[in-house]
Amino acid sequence: MSIDIASEPDLNNQLILDADAAAALFMEARTANSWSDEKVSDETLQAIYALTKMGPTAFNGQPLRITWVRSSEARERLVEHMMDGNKAKTLTAPMVAVLSFSQEWHALMPTTAPHMADMLMPMFEANVESRIAAGNNNAHVQAGYFILAARAAGLAVGPMTGFNPSGVDAEFNGDSNFKSFMVVNMGKPSGDVDRDRLHRLDFDLATVTL
Ligand SMILES: Cc1cc2nc3c(=O)[nH]c(=O)nc-3n(C[C@H](O)[C@H](O)[C@H](O)COP(=O)(O)O)c2cc1C
Repeated sequence: MSIDIASEPDLNNQLILDADAAAALFMEARTANSWSDEKVSDETLQAIYALTKMGPTAFNGQPLRITWVRSSEARERLVEHMMDGNKAKTLTAPMVAVLSFSQEWHALMPTTAPHMADMLMPMFEANVESRIAAGNNNAHVQAGYFILAARAAGLAVGPMTGFNPSGVDAEFNGDSNFKSFMVVNMGKPSGDVDRDRLHRLDFDLATVTL
C-alpha cells in the first residue's frame, strides 16, 4: 500500500510545507534496509544535528547523545551486539548512529536552563528514578527529530531496537553514564523498498476529540 497524499483529508491545504517536502519527510519516506555506496559527509552529520537539537525537551534538558559509527573496525564491534536480522544492513549502511541518553543530563542545567537550575538540579540529583525516566523519554522525543532531520538532509534511515543495549554500552559507552536505546542506519537507499507500506492507524481509531 502506498499512501496517496491526495486521499489524506485537506493535507495540501493544511500544511505549510510544499508537497515535495511533505513527501520527503513523511508521505514517501520509507524505512531502508539496503544501501548505496554513497558516503555520508561530516558536513551532513553537522546539519542533521543542527536540526535535531532544535526539537523540544522537558526542561530543555537535551539528554540525547550520538555516537557516529563510520569505520569498519567500530562497525564490526557494533554488529556483535545486533540481533542477527539486523547485522547485514548495519554492516553495509554508509553511516550508523548509536543513540544514547545521558543519565546525568541535569548536570548541564546551568547552561540549558539557567532560570530553573538552582531549583531543579538538586531535585534531579536526589531523585535518580525520575531523572532517568525523563532522560529516556526526552531522548526518544529527540530521536524522532533525528529521523526527520536525516530525511530533511536527503538520507533514508533504518531505526532499530533489535540489539543488546548492555553490550553496546560496554563497547561504546564504557567511560560514561550514557545508555544506548536505538541504533539508526543511515544513507542513500539502494533501489526501491521491496515491501509494501504497512497499515497506518486512521484518525478515528487513534485519536479522540473531547
Ligand atoms: C524504534 C524502532 C525500532 C525498530 N527496530 C527495528 C529492528 O530492530 N529491526 C528492523 O528490521 N526494523 C526495525 N524498525 C523498523 C520498523 O519496522 C519500520 O520503521 C516500520 O515498519 C515502518 O516502516 P516504513 O517506514 O517503511 O513504513 C524499527 C523502527 C523503530 C522506529
